[in-house]
Amino acid sequence: GTRIGKLFFDVDTAVGEVSNRLQENVTGVQVVRAFAREDYEIQRFDTANKDVFSKWMKAIDEWARIMPTSVWLTSFGTILVLWFGGQMVMNGEMTIGTVVAFNAYILMMAEPAQTLTGLVNTGGEAAAGAQRVFEILDTVPAIRSKKDAIELPVLRGKVEFRNVSLKYQDEKAASLSAIELSVEPNQIVALIGPTGSGKTSLVNLIPRFYDVTAGSVTVDDMDVRDVELTSLRSQIGIVLQTSLLFSDTIRANIAYGRPDAAEDEILAAAKAAQAHEFIEGFTQGYDTIVGERGVTLSGGQRQRVAIARALLMNPRILILDDSLSSVDTQTEKLIQAALDTLMEGRTTFVIAHRLSTVRRADLILVMDRGHIVQRGPHEDLLREGGLYKQIHDLQLVRHAQYEDEIPARAELPSSKEMHANTLMMRRDS
Ligand SMILES: Nc1ncnc2c1ncn2[C@@H]1O[C@H](COP(=O)(O)OP(=O)(O)OP(=O)(O)O)[C@@H](O)[C@H]1O
Ligand SMILES: [Mg+2]
Repeated sequence: GTRIGKLFFDVDTAVGEVSNRLQENVTGVQVVRAFAREDYEIQRFDTANKDVFSKWMKAIDEWARIMPTSVWLTSFGTILVLWFGGQMVMNGEMTIGTVVAFNAYILMMAEPAQTLTGLVNTGGEAAAGAQRVFEILDTVPAIRSKKDAIELPVLRGKVEFRNVSLKYQDEKAASLSAIELSVEPNQIVALIGPTGSGKTSLVNLIPRFYDVTAGSVTVDDMDVRDVELTSLRSQIGIVLQTSLLFSDTIRANIAYGRPDAAEDEILAAAKAAQAHEFIEGFTQGYDTIVGERGVTLSGGQRQRVAIARALLMNPRILILDDSLSSVDTQTEKLIQAALDTLMEGRTTFVIAHRLSTVRRADLILVMDRGHIVQRGPHEDLLREGGLYKQIHDLQLVRHAQYEDEIPARAELPSSKEMHANTLMMRRDS
């Protein structure tokens, strides 16, 4: 009874682990690719599956040992009841009702056994489901390194787009058209434009998440289609619109792109990302598990862990698909400081919503319906008017005002955060 129950519980837990892995790998596929950790995730998924398999075998084995006995007992019980009960009824020693009741009890005992059969059937369905999952997993990815792909040397960080257009599969219209762009090493490029104008599509072409429909994207004058994908992606740091973390320790999440990183490197990255203090605030510190079965981090905390993760990679090219997450001013400033550190000395593409980021960019690209409609530094574009001025007046300035308004309403920051902030403000001025 309880023994087999425990075995089935183990199976359940193991299945939960598999679906958790699967769910994270599907939703986090871009992170897995960006940090070139496909092999690692495949191996982890494999281990989880093997675990389910062995637990199932154990449970079924035990069940098979018990099950025939219980079936036999049920049938034999019925015969005994009818045989002796029948005689006793005929001898007038017992009423027929008692015999019927007895028989019913025997059948009730059979019920748990039937439940087990049901469980095994469910197992069959699960196996069928798993097969479909494997069909998906076996799909060959559309984007792979060429056979004779070049291992990319350490990049200087020059990025060029030559007459690039991009039409997604099954889409009618092109999402990017006639994109011409030349970015020197260590420049900061800010992209702004209405939703759906192609900002994310443009930056996704650099780590080759998609292939161009026409034209070419080059890094240090090498076409991204000619280079080895891992060597390309490991030099591009990406902080996504939604910073995805895995259910693992904070340490493992920071070290995701460089599992061999030393402890002091991890700490340094967390400190630079303004994440060290809140991490130390947890009783388990860097060993705190986040996600599904652990601590839930706030949006601002998640973002800083993601920044630390990107910092540790020390990428030559940085892509920030910066979301306007609803964080308080203090956190906003911490994130801004973390981003500033991250952008230093790298070619940076930032999809920006903050006036401060746009202002300090070397080049601003204003996108509209798949085209770059305006380009230049902030002052020039402001003078030019057009879409840039509209977005500036309506979004950027309003957000900047909003930032200034909050302090009166926001909760008092902790003394630690206050300290961090004073340090930062000194740096700003
Ligand atoms: N994976 C995809 N498959 C098909 N179409 C896509 C895909 N990604 C984006 N698109 C389409 O391409 C166009 C540009 O989208 P994109 O995500 O690049 O815009 P964006 O400027 O980043 O918008 P936002 O500010 O909302 O993030 C949109 O019309 C969008 O529907
Ligand atoms: Mg986008």
